[in-house]
Amino acid sequence: MSAFPNAAAFTDAAPLFRIASERACEIAQREALLDLAMGPGRTRKSSEAIRRGRLPAEGLALSATGADGALAATVRLWNISAGRRDGAAVPALLLGPLAVDPALQGAGLGGLMMRHAIAEAARLGHGAIILVGDPEYYQRFGFSPEKTARLAMPGPFEPRRLLALEFAAGHLDGVSGRIRPTGRLEGTARLRTPLRIAA
Ligand SMILES: CC(C)(COP(=O)(O)OP(=O)(O)OC[C@H]1O[C@@H](n2cnc3c(N)ncnc32)[C@H](O)[C@@H]1OP(=O)(O)O)[C@@H](O)C(=O)NCCC(=O)NCCS
Repeated sequence: MSAFPNAAAFTDAAPLFRIASERACEIAQREALLDLAMGPGRTRKSSEAIRRGRLPAEGLALSATGADGALAATVRLWNISAGRRDGAAVPALLLGPLAVDPALQGAGLGGLMMRHAIAEAARLGHGAIILVGDPEYYQRFGFSPEKTARLAMPGPFEPRRLLALEFAAGHLDGVSGRIRPTGRLEGTARLRTPLRIAA
């Protein structure tokens, strides 16, 4: 069920929500929001094969919360190699999933999340973002299939929905091959101090 049952009063979501790095205490809310917004098939997407068992890119798991702390939207980005060029892997980010609480959709929050995520990714020095999504939605943020024609997801995907946004001009020129995860493995954050195993 939506955490915003009285959302009909919202017409412009932008000033009403705080966008910040996702906190550990929001993980259960995020999973519930993704189930609500995307349905049970969400875990069978090809993008999920890239995300599974990995941590999001540093500083690029974002939440939008309402005044009472309820989660209104989520977006995360993941370190990938966007195929290869001249034999070398080309680093980039994969964006997704992006989801807004269904009771709040159409009020500008998705756009706000996208613009925030794009600005953060650029600020952190990444070269490009790739995503699988509806071009009719994502082209407004500058995404296009122009540079992705020779890239493939690790599973079924519609080529017209594989889109990219470059920050550094030419970052994706000539890339080809399969998109692969390169992010930190889940659990590694907890293993910074060496394990002590009792004899
Ligand atoms: C897609 C989604 C994130 C957009 O968020 P939102 O807050 O509703 O979007 P905004 O209010 O910023 O923008 C609304 C505009 O986007 C358009 N839009 C939304 N989803 C669209 C889609 N899939 N294709 C084309 N246009 C779309 C709306 O028609 C509206 O257009 P308008 O500005 O011309 O009226 C949200 O609808 C959602 O969570 N959907 C379910 C999950 C999902 O499909 N996520 C994307 C795949 S990872």
